[in-house]
Amino acid sequence: MNWKEIPGWFQWRSGQEEAVRHFPDGSRFVEVGNYLGRSLCSLAEAAQVGGKQFSLIGVDTCLGSGVESPKAKDYHGAALAEGGGTLAGLLHRNIIACGFAGQVSVIVSDSLTASTFFPDASIAWVHLDARHDYENVKADIQTWLPKIAVGGWLSGDDYDEIKWPGVAAAVREVLPLARPWSPAQWRWMLS
Ligand SMILES: C[S@@+](CC[C@H](N)C(=O)[O-])C[C@H]1O[C@@H](n2cnc3c(N)ncnc32)[C@H](O)[C@@H]1O
Repeated sequence: MNWKEIPGWFQWRSGQEEAVRHFPDGSRFVEVGNYLGRSLCSLAEAAQVGGKQFSLIGVDTCLGSGVESPKAKDYHGAALAEGGGTLAGLLHRNIIACGFAGQVSVIVSDSLTASTFFPDASIAWVHLDARHDYENVKADIQTWLPKIAVGGWLSGDDYDEIKWPGVAAAVREVLPLARPWSPAQWRWMLS
């Protein structure tokens, strides 16, 4: 299986490729919000293509995000029903089918609990793509920010004032020095 066959919305591969070029072997990357593994498996493949070895960790409740966005849609409901109330089996199956079971670890947990498993300043890159409402994006930024190592990045998906106003508002408020990055992403760099 190729990551492009995994359902999802991921389409900012150039950002992942930049991370693969930028960070040295052995760096730790965490993606918060994995759904069925499309972006996570793309990252593992980008690392493979780039000849780099990273510690790649996904974090997801595997319970979906529920109803969200100004459209009030449940984007993950159908997959959740297919998985019998959890995305965990589908996500892990896709990671295995893409050949990355040895490269990718998944923590089935909510974002805030998972962050406590990591020491401060221990992660090169955290990418946030869990719930997209203002309160949750703000909490995710505040909880993962101390985990970023010097020279590292904190970034997130769906930086779009119209489609995801909560994301844009939380980033603006908590990380005013964050900048638009890659297609529809935001990024803050710790110098
Ligand atoms: C937009 S999807 C992730 C898409 C994925 N990054 C991709 O591009 O293929 C959001 C995911 O966040 C997860 N999620 C929602 N709230 C969460 C939380 N508080 N902690 C961890 N994961 C959460 C959902 O279960 C869902 O799988």
